[in-house]
Amino acid sequence: MTYFASTSRYENMKFNRCGSSGLLLPAVSLGLWHNFGGMDDFNKMKEILLKAFDLGITHFDLANNYGPPPGSAEINLKNILKSELGKHRDELIISTKAGYLMWEGPYGEWGSRKYLLSSLDQSLKRMGLDYVDIFYSHRPDPETPLEETMTALHSAVQQGKALYVGISNYSAEQTTKAVKILKKLGTPCLIHQPRYNMFDRWVEDGLLDVLEKHGVGCIPFSPLAQGILTDRYLNGIPEDSRVAGESIFLKKEHLDPEVMVKVKALNQHAEQRGQTLAQLALAWILSRKQITSVLVGASSVDQLLANTATLHNLSFSKDEMAYIDNILL
Ligand SMILES: NC(=O)c1ccc[n+]([C@@H]2O[C@H](COP(=O)([O-])OP(=O)(O)OC[C@H]3O[C@@H](n4cnc5c(N)ncnc54)[C@H](OP(=O)(O)O)[C@@H]3O)[C@@H](O)[C@H]2O)c1
Repeated sequence: MTYFASTSRYENMKFNRCGSSGLLLPAVSLGLWHNFGGMDDFNKMKEILLKAFDLGITHFDLANNYGPPPGSAEINLKNILKSELGKHRDELIISTKAGYLMWEGPYGEWGSRKYLLSSLDQSLKRMGLDYVDIFYSHRPDPETPLEETMTALHSAVQQGKALYVGISNYSAEQTTKAVKILKKLGTPCLIHQPRYNMFDRWVEDGLLDVLEKHGVGCIPFSPLAQGILTDRYLNGIPEDSRVAGESIFLKKEHLDPEVMVKVKALNQHAEQRGQTLAQLALAWILSRKQITSVLVGASSVDQLLANTATLHNLSFSKDEMAYIDNILL
């Protein structure tokens, strides 16, 4: 069936300025780390992506290694662009990254110029694109000079293969250095992609201040702690969940009793706000001024609909924040 994008797609989405750049990102963005690989149901992922676009989610986040197998999420995106979404390319912000192991040998991971630029060429081929909107260094490399990694990002822009650059998983100190190098090169750092959720608050300890000071946007990944901060595991482990799927990244052990006591208390509080736990967890992040967008994953259209509905209530009183902090202690 021919796809026609919803004509109301921009009516309900909130768009936030990414740091001090000219780019606006949707408050909710969609990541293709899980559920979009070569082993997943192609029609289902297509349905999720098309619904995302219809909801005003203009930003899709990828990396060279998303799958499994690595690279297959980029190939699946290419096929959906080719058949449906490609005609809307100028309405889309597509990002990819390089940093983790992608191919054998000394040039297949980390932060060398050799790896980053070869990987970007491969990603562009897999996605069938001439350029990505954002190209990230996926993780800091302790052995490569930061200047080399940042210059490679700058080259990607100069070569017309990326419009903007970003960094992911860099500490506050590494971020300060990276931002300064990029500024000197004339390619500002657009955005930082750190893990941030109610159970992992490391960014509050310096990184958010650094990003604000330098006008860099922030798009937290795993804002739902991969599903723990939702109603998914309140009554056991559903068969179709990430934990049941034997993900190497989210295991049964992560659902320990201490965590689940907090999840249940948060869920009760969410009910009082008239939200689901997932919506509470996303609103809690989005209520911070430094945050541009939350980068969610989804295994169904219903999850996506629920997550975008978060935008109806993003406000918290001081007392409420303190109450939540107390649960999270
Ligand atoms: N830069 C990095 O190093 C890095 C690392 C990790 C992720 N990322 C990016 O961040 C994106 C998101 O990461 P993530 O998938 O871990 O994010 P997440 O949003 O924390 O978790 C997504 C999972 O939560 C569950 N879920 C989502 N919405 C729900 C809802 N409304 N109700 C119930 N359950 C819900 C689903 O689990 P089920 O599948 O069990 O249904 C879904 O797959 C990735 O796709 C990737 O783009 C980046």
